Amino acid sequence: MKTVQDYIRTIPDFPHEGIMFRDVTTLFNDPRGFRIAVDQLLHPYAGMQIDQVAGLEARGFIMGGAIAHQLSVGFLPIRKKGKLPGKTIEQAYQLEYGEAVVEVHDDALQPGDKVLLVDDLLATGGTAEAGIKLIERLGAEVIGCAFIIDLPELGGRKRLEAMGMDVHALCAFEGA
Ligand code: PRP
Ligand code: MG
Repeated sequence: MKTVQDYIRTIPDFPHEGIMFRDVTTLFNDPRGFRIAVDQLLHPYAGMQIDQVAGLEARGFIMGGAIAHQLSVGFLPIRKKGKLPGKTIEQAYQLEYGEAVVEVHDDALQPGDKVLLVDDLLATGGTAEAGIKLIERLGAEVIGCAFIIDLPELGGRKRLEAMGMDVHALCAFEGA
């Protein structure tokens, strides 16, 4: 029986030389792969109160939307800067070269909401940390951070756990 990890394709030297790109499109393409990924991502949260699922643009929208639908709760898109039409709050984070900014509408969550944060991949944790900060700035609580892939060598899990976060990943790849 194929595992979630078996459905993920690795493409060497993308986007630049020396990077092993973990491609989740082959997981999403496969009906069984997508189904087991959604089921396994949800598994640790069975019976927990979750008011909203937040997904990080862009690849976090795919799993995040499916997870929110499965739980029958709302979905909060955490978007890259400049896409949202209403009043927003924004949070900057570091990229390999330079800085990026994500944002949410300032009325997207209610204080006290319990939020599950979802993305495809945990690398340095910078993107997830920015998402957590936005959720917390709106007075809501992140009850878990769920990823398909963890790249432990890049330290994201340790970084999020140091913030007090509960981190769940379906598989890990050694060698960033
Ligand atoms: C990728 C990936 C995660 C993030 C992980 O997103 O989808 O969101 O990097 O890296 P980090 O843990 O070091 O922050 P990226 O913004 O490259 O592209 P995307 O818009 O295709 O999701
Ligand atoms: Mg991403």
